[in-house]
Amino acid sequence: MNAYDYAVSDRAAALNELKDLLRIPSISALGEYKGDVARAAAWVADHLKKIGLTRVEVSATAGHPVVYGEWLGAAGAPTVLIYGHYDVQPPYNDMATKDPAWQTEPFDPVEKDGNLYARGSADDKGQIYAHIKAVAALLQANGTLPVNVKFLIEGEEETGSTALYEYIPAHAAMLKADVCVISDSHMLATDRPSIVNALRGLMYLEVQMQVAKSDLHSGSYGGLVLNAAQLMAEMLAKLHAPDGSVAVPGFYDAVVPLTPAEREAVAQVLWTDEELLHEAGTLLEQGEREYSRRERVGLRPTLEINGMVSGFTGEGSKTVLPSKAMAKISCRLVAAQEPDDIFDKVSGYIKSLVPESVTLRFLRHGNGLPVKVDIDSPQMQAAVEAVTRGFGAAPVFMPEGGSIPIVATIRSVLNNIPVLLVGFGLPDDNLHAPDEKFSIDQFYRGIDTSIALLEALGRK
Ligand code: BES
Ligand code: MN
Ligand code: MN
Repeated sequence: MNAYDYAVSDRAAALNELKDLLRIPSISALGEYKGDVARAAAWVADHLKKIGLTRVEVSATAGHPVVYGEWLGAAGAPTVLIYGHYDVQPPYNDMATKDPAWQTEPFDPVEKDGNLYARGSADDKGQIYAHIKAVAALLQANGTLPVNVKFLIEGEEETGSTALYEYIPAHAAMLKADVCVISDSHMLATDRPSIVNALRGLMYLEVQMQVAKSDLHSGSYGGLVLNAAQLMAEMLAKLHAPDGSVAVPGFYDAVVPLTPAEREAVAQVLWTDEELLHEAGTLLEQGEREYSRRERVGLRPTLEINGMVSGFTGEGSKTVLPSKAMAKISCRLVAAQEPDDIFDKVSGYIKSLVPESVTLRFLRHGNGLPVKVDIDSPQMQAAVEAVTRGFGAAPVFMPEGGSIPIVATIRSVLNNIPVLLVGFGLPDDNLHAPDEKFSIDQFYRGIDTSIALLEALGRK
């Protein structure tokens, strides 16, 4: 039986195993799930051992564990580093009230209409498991692999990959590879496959402000003293200019104009600008109107308010002037924008917008450099061949608005190896939102594509 046939015969088992992994609530952002995150790491390591990798390690870090596994029995063949993450986003904005609601339980995977619904199904457990099952099928069918394989599967991608920024340089020799494969993104459609050729970078910032020693009665002091909720709202409202651009001075300094070729390429995608807004489920737009909607979510830098809290938010009313307010802000970065520099600019601008006697505290929660991928390498040719085999059509190249923070570091520490961003998700997978799902057909095609990719890379 060849590897593809083996994978087909093993599909039901693969799906059941993936469901086991999805039952572990490995939420990296929330401290109380630390044990579950560790359990997911152990689960991944166990399965890497089970499929026949020869060395598997779970390394403790200051944050969550890093899982590493290797099979190096293909002397003279290239080495492929497969990166992914086993951590997931919180299913709810508020774990106590379970808001926003899901149709099914986030950590009780349910099959419906050809999809598997669960937090982490597409992002990224289902996608990494497709590669694990591809390696398993090749080893089962042939007793060997066409390439050497190294898995690097982390538990902090959704919180900014903090530990990996030390782990990768410290283990550069162990991780040495000729190409890096990452499946943590989506394609346009099953019959319109795409490969990601650019990722935006990220700078995530929390701003805490305190305007008085404590909260005050709004009758006794309203009209007299500064209110933290109001100050926060006024400050946040000044982060964008009326034309939709980011008002932070210097924000666009390192951005380069879009080339006609880039603009042409995004204009070619399946979604029209109309469909993109429809897909978002709203008619209320924001952003730089002189760019198309597709350009704004793929190629231009942005600033978003992800959340804010201040004062009384419980049931009923309480007349109070809040002394404290907090907001979470993220910036998507492109071209030569760097997280540290953007942090300095955004925090500096925020300081300039509030009175000096306000206590301001900034916390940073994640950084990533933007990435542009070379699409002319022989390894990318292998990816094109593999996706064509797995999905029955040649892929187009597309920029992705999301971020995978560690990619630039993987590439630079490992001597600028090619990075192949071959995602098996679909645009309606509801990543980070309620009702996340992964198409079961995409999962199976992902396994086939991974087999084809490892074989094609073995020939390069
Ligand atoms: N898999 C995503 C990146 C992504 C998002 C790819 C959308 C394709 C489409 C990744 O897990 C992710 O969510 N990254 C975060 C990084 C942050 C939490 C540091 C992001 O982009 O918000
Ligand atoms: Mn992901
Ligand atoms: Mn994610």
